[in-house]
Amino acid sequence: MLRVEKLRSGYGKIRVLHEVSLRLRPGEVVALLGRNGAGKSTLLKSIMGLTTQMGGEVYLADRPLRGLPSYTRAQLGLGYVPEERRIFPELSVSENLEVAYRGAGKWSLKRVFTLFPRLEQIAARRGGLLSGGEQQMLAVARTLLTNPKVLLLDEPTEGLAPILVKTIAGVVAELKATGMAILLAEQNLKFTAPLADRAYVLESGEVRMQGTMAELAQDKKVRELLSL
Ligand SMILES: Nc1ncnc2c1ncn2[C@@H]1O[C@H](COP(=O)(O)OP(=O)(O)OP(=O)(O)O)[C@@H](O)[C@H]1O
Ligand SMILES: [Mg+2]
Repeated sequence: MLRVEKLRSGYGKIRVLHEVSLRLRPGEVVALLGRNGAGKSTLLKSIMGLTTQMGGEVYLADRPLRGLPSYTRAQLGLGYVPEERRIFPELSVSENLEVAYRGAGKWSLKRVFTLFPRLEQIAARRGGLLSGGEQQMLAVARTLLTNPKVLLLDEPTEGLAPILVKTIAGVVAELKATGMAILLAEQNLKFTAPLADRAYVLESGEVRMQGTMAELAQDKKVRELLSL
């Protein structure tokens, strides 16, 4: 579904990722683990075309994406929920969702409200007034309305209370059950372990380890890299 081959990228002249390769198959949830500054967000941004690509390639269903702007990548089926969520503070929850809705495909307003009943309860509230967890739900819901084939989630549990972490975990599991491929950048191993089929561990912009969650969780080096 998504293939990253020896990708080198960064910001302007600053190189952050060094020959990163990974694969995401249809219906798979893959975690991207690594400490602060390891390059997780940079990798997701690079897949979306938001960084300077210096080498290698990203393929979506075998189509090379080099040179394509992020909105084209979104149209081709990449859904990206950035770390900073980017809710429109002046728009209501409904309006935030309507902005993203393209009018065709599996995901409708009704369906995202079924997935996130809380959003329906607060549909009229202004985006700027939402709690962190509500903002995260809205950010995910909004991306779903673009009917992505692949979902890139950047630390969806960051700053959330444990109960909301559970809600988000439930949503990721439901999306996985629908066959969506999900790449999940996370530091929260407790959240990731039951959800992810496999993981890649990044350090200093390189993939240091990869494997199933069970394999990685037992690896001493991985535990060190993740400060467990
Ligand atoms: N806009 C930017 N310009 C220059 N360097 C950047 C920029 N954004 C990030 N970096 C650098 O790239 C490296 C990787 O950062 P990145 O945000 O990808 O890490 P991360 O794994 O997502 O960390 P975190 O867990 O803290 O979110 C860091 O050294 C960071 O300082
Ligand atoms: Mg990050």
